Amino acid sequence: MNNQSLEKFRSDFPALSRRRNGKPPIYFDSACTSLVPRPVIASLLQYYEQYPACGGKRSSHWFAEEVTALIEGKPEAGITGARRAIAEFINAGSGQEIIFTLNTTAAINTVAMGFNFKPGDAVLISGREHNSNLVPWLRLQKAGLIKVIHTAAGLEDAFDLEAYERCFEMGRIRLVSMAFTSNVTGVTLPAKEIIAIAHRHGARVLLDGAQTVPHQPVDVRDLDVDFLTFSLHKMCGPRGVGVLYVKSELIGKVEGPQAGEDHLEPVIVGGGSVSNTTFDSYQLHQGPEGFEAGIQNYAGIIASAAAVAYLRQIGMERIAAHEKELNRYLTGKLLSRYGDRGWFTILGPQEVERRGSILTFMVRRPNAMGIAEELNARSNIMIRDGVFCVHSYFNQQFGAGWRQPRSHWEHRMIHRLSFYLYNTLQECDLFLDTLEEIFAERGYLE
Ligand code: ALA
Repeated sequence: MNNQSLEKFRSDFPALSRRRNGKPPIYFDSACTSLVPRPVIASLLQYYEQYPACGGKRSSHWFAEEVTALIEGKPEAGITGARRAIAEFINAGSGQEIIFTLNTTAAINTVAMGFNFKPGDAVLISGREHNSNLVPWLRLQKAGLIKVIHTAAGLEDAFDLEAYERCFEMGRIRLVSMAFTSNVTGVTLPAKEIIAIAHRHGARVLLDGAQTVPHQPVDVRDLDVDFLTFSLHKMCGPRGVGVLYVKSELIGKVEGPQAGEDHLEPVIVGGGSVSNTTFDSYQLHQGPEGFEAGIQNYAGIIASAAAVAYLRQIGMERIAAHEKELNRYLTGKLLSRYGDRGWFTILGPQEVERRGSILTFMVRRPNAMGIAEELNARSNIMIRDGVFCVHSYFNQQFGAGWRQPRSHWEHRMIHRLSFYLYNTLQECDLFLDTLEEIFAERGYLE
């Protein structure tokens, strides 16, 4: 991205104009949650100021009709609607395949609790899953309904398709559920091959796209994926809005499924999700309406259309290329400075092409604690450290008890920088300079 475009996009983010101690913020934590541009903030404000009413066709007055149109669309007035805008962003067949949820975690839980698992089914996950794509399955396993199987993952995070296919011999796998892009290593799975193999074995596939959809083009029809989950707050959008894409053949069977057929049922039911009730029966709406019970986050749902419009205007390929450029620059500098010191390791593959927008490094030094806090205090550089909700992966890589080392010599701290469209090479340089200062003061460079 050239400097002029970058400066223009940066000026869209009010948070970047803040100053602390005379210095600007340097935000390298977009994998956690992204900054928000003005068009999205304006859309949120507009809801509260102009039409703060319900949607879902409940009421048929002026304000409610505007809300419903902005979500469900009104072609005669030239309004696409948020549901369709999201569908188009991931090339879904129609808005009827898009369920709005609270976040990715809620979307995965909807599948965990709403898919018609049968006792003895297995769910296959990868070896480096976020807790949100692990705990829902462990809970079903604890309840005795399913068995959880996982593939292997090393620090290189290479995916072995042959070993993956052999997992289908280990149980009756009904669902493969994997993080499309790792929030630790940044590696994106070979999803098309994974899906084709799963389908050949009669299994459905859920991709947790929380770290993918904000950073690269995703086409659900080309992938042939059955479920895709992601969160708007990681893609310049509002907080509290997630998406569960469900292939039409699975969402259209809310009622009266044929025995044994795969289908998804709503987990939360009530007002807005039913077309009729008596004192002993109810009729659920077909499609997404059946899954969106109760008053929703209408402001957030409407603003999700502004978020995807913003990203589309920049272009997903362009965003991906920009992030890789920053990652390539920083990776090169970090490896040339510390790569042969023995205590500095970049997690995942060394090739930036496979790590996209994420750079995670491990420092194994005495008292390797507090580096993130020092970067923040000295230069307003915001990164994340810890285990990034992927305890199971780190525990497996480093062994039980690695987070509570017996002596100060055994500290192993993991730090993550995650880039987005608003980050710059100058920010990377400031990070490098500040990190060098910290390492030098700690005596790591002697
Ligand atoms: N899963 C988010 C992260 O990796 C919160 O930071």
